Amino acid sequence: HWCVQDRSAQTIAPLLDPKPGERVLDACAAPGGKSTHLAELMGDQGQVLALDRGEARLRRVARNSERLGLGCIETRHGDAVELASEAPELLGQFDALLIDAPCSGLGTLARHADARWRIDPAAIEGLVTLQRQLLEGLLPLLKPAGRLVYATCTVHPEENGELLEAFLKDHPQLRLEQSFQLWPGQLDGGGDGFFAARIVRT
Ligand SMILES: C[S@@+](CC[C@H](N)C(=O)[O-])C[C@H]1O[C@@H](n2cnc3c(N)ncnc32)[C@H](O)[C@@H]1O
Repeated sequence: HWCVQDRSAQTIAPLLDPKPGERVLDACAAPGGKSTHLAELMGDQGQVLALDRGEARLRRVARNSERLGLGCIETRHGDAVELASEAPELLGQFDALLIDAPCSGLGTLARHADARWRIDPAAIEGLVTLQRQLLEGLLPLLKPAGRLVYATCTVHPEENGELLEAFLKDHPQLRLEQSFQLWPGQLDGGGDGFFAARIVRT
């Protein structure tokens, strides 16, 4: 009947503020913590298109959605960077877009202690490139007045504020409405480190 989500992660779907009947794209969706949260905030009315490039991970989105009795989540396997060119019928179709980006995960070291040995400066560079490609590739799928939330579970400035600053500079039609960096343990003494930004198209 319910889904466990880290308390910082719980702030992300409400930031996108999805409404019943809207069409929402969750571009990096698996295993579905935020897709299911979005669908619940929408009263299961409308559509959440849950995309992920990990096929096995995507099956967990479908399983979680079914277990929670949600009917408005549709899963799609694919690379979000390529979605606009592979499915041109989706261009300009979404009221809201969530990019819960692949990241260094440095805000989750309390739960994934080994990440500190897996991440080095070269890994950050590769991730920033992918994160920028996701933002650029997915932007054309938004409706003219659509809104976008970019989120990561890291505290690394290059993957968060610095990346967005460069992205916004190249897209003057976008406006940053709100952004925040949660540090590990910041919410009532718990929670992962999370970054989120809400952007609107003017
Ligand atoms: C932070 S996790 C998403 C967590 C998920 N939003 C949740 O709340 O349960 C990032 C996801 O991005 C996916 N991913 C990475 N690169 C991708 C790409 N180019 N296109 C689509 N999905 C991608 C990964 O497979 C992974 O499942």
